[in-house]
Amino acid sequence: MKITVSLIKADVGSLAGHHVVHEKQKELARKILQEAKETGLIIDYYVFNAGDDLELLMTHTKGVNNSDIHGLAWKVFKEVTDKVSKPLKLYAAGQDLLVEAFSGNLRGMGPGVAEMEFEERPSEPIVVFAADKTEPGAWNLPLFKIFADPFNTAGLVIDPRMHDGFDFVVMDVIENKEVKLRCPSEMYDLLALIGTPGRYVISRVYRHSDGEIAAVASTTRLSLIAGRYVGKDDPVLIVRAQHGFPAVGEILEAFAFPHLVAGWMRGSHHGPLMPVSLRNAKCTRFDGPPRVVALGFQVHEGYLEGPADLFDDPAFDWTRMRAMEIADYIRRHGPFMPHRLGPEEMEYTTLPAVLEKLKNRFVEAK
Ligand code: F6R
Ligand code: MG
Ligand code: MG
Repeated sequence: MKITVSLIKADVGSLAGHHVVHEKQKELARKILQEAKETGLIIDYYVFNAGDDLELLMTHTKGVNNSDIHGLAWKVFKEVTDKVSKPLKLYAAGQDLLVEAFSGNLRGMGPGVAEMEFEERPSEPIVVFAADKTEPGAWNLPLFKIFADPFNTAGLVIDPRMHDGFDFVVMDVIENKEVKLRCPSEMYDLLALIGTPGRYVISRVYRHSDGEIAAVASTTRLSLIAGRYVGKDDPVLIVRAQHGFPAVGEILEAFAFPHLVAGWMRGSHHGPLMPVSLRNAKCTRFDGPPRVVALGFQVHEGYLEGPADLFDDPAFDWTRMRAMEIADYIRRHGPFMPHRLGPEEMEYTTLPAVLEKLKNRFVEAK
């Protein structure tokens, strides 16, 4: 039996600014998904949050891009907006719902989607990641490390099942095109693209030897859909682990380095991506720093056993301390680049409106 894992998320309003999802929002989401479980539409679900983003993890047998599943997620986001966010006047109620009505597929409508379909292995561990205050390109560096860097993933060298490497699908989010590149043979081509994470985003990874899906990420760039700034995309990612895929520890190892990502305050600043437990998945200092949670599950006949809150571990304390040191350092740049994003990225923020005001004050330089 083929199982589909769908991780669909949206920011539909939050408590005390863009800080954290309200408990009542999660309660209502659980209630709606429980009903869908009882009617048999989905097999199982897990509701959680990464900062101000409501995350719906669902399993079913309907394949990816299924309109019933996408419709269910849309219903959750709509009802949570109408029945909780708006009455409680939560901040930015319904923020990511960019259109009025659902029309069959969530892509291009605001919510972020990562979905994969596979034949369950005798044991099927998966790791689900969700980040807040950053963009989909934030996964580029860790995905490269997990599936292409032998200094991160020992299995690339030691395990014959991984020795043929992995194929990366990279999406150009500006042109809406994609290209598949094989690693290690096309590693330099891959890096030439994904080093520009605002434009080239890894969307899927496959094991080269048999084409098995290994990872899938959301690629929504809200500003490109809306043509204006509507909060960062706060991406999600699903990775299969163990037995011919990287081990859970190899997957997590890629996050031991708090790399710089775009997002943070007003979606306009670079800052370190800090791995945190679910308990600490809430953005405070300067609306950040950008955070990521990792949840481990064992999938069995489509049921989700778990989660294991994988960053809830002192082994990541040092990474967190380092992230705060970097946060402190880069914050001292205030409104200066490279803390503030470059002009290309700022195009979709409120900065152009400020610059427009100054336009007529410019005279020929003497
Ligand atoms: C970043 C984010 C926040 C807001 C900031 C201003 O993704 O959501 O940093 O950009 O709090 O929010 P507004 O302009 O909505 O009051
Ligand atoms: Mg928000
Ligand atoms: Mg968010």
